[in-house]
Amino acid sequence: MSRVDVPASPSADASPEVPQVEVTLHVNGTSHRLRFDARVTLLDALRDHLGLTGAKKGCDQGACGACTVMADGKRVVSCLALAAQYEGREIVTVESLSENGELHPIQAAFARHDAFQCGYCTPGQIMSAISLIAEGRAGSDEDICEFMSGNICRCGAYPNIRAAIREVAGEA
Ligand code: FES
Ligand code: FES
Repeated sequence: MSRVDVPASPSADASPEVPQVEVTLHVNGTSHRLRFDARVTLLDALRDHLGLTGAKKGCDQGACGACTVMADGKRVVSCLALAAQYEGREIVTVESLSENGELHPIQAAFARHDAFQCGYCTPGQIMSAISLIAEGRAGSDEDICEFMSGNICRCGAYPNIRAAIREVAGEA
């Protein structure tokens, strides 16, 4: 695994009263040594410290799923996760899914089925969908609805999202 040292952002050092922590985050196969405010969320660490803006900030309170990433193969709502608690865990974000210019099968299925309109929820939907299929919980529309219920789409692309997930789950 390669390693990149990332300097603290100015805002991370802005307040001397706020405890700073040094954390090594493993993200998409690369190890990053970071220093930030102990209260920084995993979402903000990814977006503001590592420039990985695929995971989106929708509600910032655990209600929409736009910020979903994976940690050790499990879905995580990264706006509610403290980055410091993810030291040493394997974090995967939507940026790592395509390989050699080829979309991940679920990304390709989303495109085929028009499973997005504005696209803001899409990275979170895709990360959740991958987990759902890996967990064997995409066997029916009812299951897909239930286990994707934490991912909100304000554009209402749900039927298309379900169709994309059904297709890939069927192949799996
Ligand atoms: Fe994390 Fe909405 S931004 S759940
Ligand atoms: Fe717009 Fe889902 S595609 S919020």
